[in-house]
Amino acid sequence: MPIAKKRFIHKNTDKNTEFHHHEPVLHLIRSIQYRNPEHLELLFREAEQLEDLDKANALPRPLAGKIIATLFFEPSTRTRFSFEAAIQKLGGSLLTAENAAGNSSAVKGETLEDTIRTVNGYADAIVMRHFEEGAAERAAAVSNVPIINAGDGAGEHPTQALLDLYTIKKEIGRIDNFTIALIGDLVYGRTVHSLLPLFAERDNAKINLVSPDALKLPEQYRRMLEKKNVSFREFRALGPAIRSADVLYVTRVQKERFKNPGDYEKVKDSYVINKKVLSAIKKTAVILHPLPRVNEIAPEVDADIRAAYFRQVRNGLYVRMALLSLILGSKN
Ligand code: NCD
Repeated sequence: MPIAKKRFIHKNTDKNTEFHHHEPVLHLIRSIQYRNPEHLELLFREAEQLEDLDKANALPRPLAGKIIATLFFEPSTRTRFSFEAAIQKLGGSLLTAENAAGNSSAVKGETLEDTIRTVNGYADAIVMRHFEEGAAERAAAVSNVPIINAGDGAGEHPTQALLDLYTIKKEIGRIDNFTIALIGDLVYGRTVHSLLPLFAERDNAKINLVSPDALKLPEQYRRMLEKKNVSFREFRALGPAIRSADVLYVTRVQKERFKNPGDYEKVKDSYVINKKVLSAIKKTAVILHPLPRVNEIAPEVDADIRAAYFRQVRNGLYVRMALLSLILGSKN
């Protein structure tokens, strides 16, 4: 099984879960669970194959008979739709709470743990997005079915990082020996937090961190990079940070995480990738963005071949299909 990290393969010892069983359950909580290059390769190969099969109208149905719940306590377009499309393309069916914070029993005061225990009675896996860091781990602690973290506050967003890495591989042909500029909100951006541990496992990934002082990478991630001997530098301006970059990874300033709206206003338009910036980067560079974008990439950039963010969106579908089929697919 590819998603191997002991901590997230556990027997549920929660006495309150009625549907108690003793099989180990695989959860995907953090990107580091994919630190092993062989597991990554397997995932990427599976994604490529599923894309080919989809184009040939010949997809298998490994999720036939499975019900997967998408439980979203925070807004989403790409993540939820791509999971839901992936599930249905592979023959599975869905239970959806696209506004779990407003429409589920959370409104009545139900704890996350009780909601998860309940959904355990109906679903074979749960794809969950939540506004609190650590929520996915809390859910996994009481769940007998796999929890797939689709974003936990400013914590992690592992499936996004996997599809980002897959996109880098497709776009520049490699996931070792590259320079990436991570631009924007490094303090709250969970996609960046999930990407960094994966980069740290690669050979010779050079990382340029570009942010205003108020949005600098948190200490814990900086320490992790240092410990892993990853070459990284911090910048306030785009200039030298993007000139040598093979990948520009642009992020939105995470407005919803700011306690004080005035602080958001000060930094919201720190960087804008426009035509002028395009003329300053490598001809072979690619521009990624997990989306949604606000002002950080001007629409005039979209027509440039180096703008890869909508191809990245499409890759998300196949990487999520691959993940689901590896975690849940029937072997026959
Ligand atoms: C990101 C997220 O939700 O963290 N979006 C996504 O899943 N593609 C990025 C963001 O919201 O800025």
